Amino acid sequence: MAKPKVFVTRPIPEVGLRRVLEYCDAEVWPGPLPPPREVLLEKVRDCDGLLCMLTEEIDAALMDAAPRLRVISNYAVGFNNIDVNAATRRGIAVGNTPEVLTDATADMAFCLLIAAARRLLDSYRDILDGKWKTWEPLGWIGQDLRHKTLGVVGMGRIGTALAQRCRGGWGMKILYYDVRRNEGAEEKLGAKLVDFDTLLSESDFISIHTVLNEQTRGMFDRKAFQKMKKTAVLVNTARGPIVDTEALYEALKTGQIFAAGLDVTDPEPLPPDHPLLSLPNCIVTPHIASATVASRNGMAEIAADNLILGLQGKPLRAWVNPEVEPHWRRPQNAV
Ligand code: DGY
Repeated sequence: MAKPKVFVTRPIPEVGLRRVLEYCDAEVWPGPLPPPREVLLEKVRDCDGLLCMLTEEIDAALMDAAPRLRVISNYAVGFNNIDVNAATRRGIAVGNTPEVLTDATADMAFCLLIAAARRLLDSYRDILDGKWKTWEPLGWIGQDLRHKTLGVVGMGRIGTALAQRCRGGWGMKILYYDVRRNEGAEEKLGAKLVDFDTLLSESDFISIHTVLNEQTRGMFDRKAFQKMKKTAVLVNTARGPIVDTEALYEALKTGQIFAAGLDVTDPEPLPPDHPLLSLPNCIVTPHIASATVASRNGMAEIAADNLILGLQGKPLRAWVNPEVEPHWRRPQNAV
């Protein structure tokens, strides 16, 4: 029997890719950059499955270009690049890759937090610029961490994992803002649910771990920065557009806040001449929070499983829209 046809938008770790190539008639886009939109539209035309990255916009138009598509497997936990409602309406299942990247992402958030607080970037740049002349009694003074207050925006798995690190290692007080209460974090970490303004004004460190949607887009705007402490550090490992880039630039430039550590930006990627990159108090990494061996292998395994299970008409391992099941598109080929 013919294997189902799938398109994979970039090579993923071998442990997942091997399985996809074994079970499917798969074409893998070989380039280091995502396939251009018109190429993607062409490639999905006769596909039963799509394994994509967060760099691809999977909207209604793309789904309409793929009349046989029955499963979209995102190689990411975040799925703001996919119009899930449009997929559900068309009978297409959507999968993502939760849990396997929780620790790696929380580690990265902490790495950015401490790097920004302790001025890793500007002190390093000063060495390269020949400005390290002697031990400095008053130079490169940063922020302390012990017993400070961490504000977590979005107390899900990753937010909780960061709070555990900050509570256990540095005795921080934990505040959080979320649409849902996290009783586990309250019990185990003494975390306190507060409104957004309280989180902004009382936190020494604020770390963003919420999804990007119409409610969270631009939530860190000029007004938000005005409410933060001048000594505050902002960390974003979630999605760039949650922060208004211009407002952040202004807040960092004028000393409205102390520093920022960003693994995600808007736009993404940031062009090398972007004003944010000229600031000594803004450390930026290229969306690498999940980039560890175990995380990426785990993501590849789940993404492959989601794809293959979806093609077989079986429940996905991590299923974003299980409500699609009653009107799920029938498989064109069995695996
Ligand atoms: C995700 O999975 O959503 C991260 O942003 C990339 O791993």
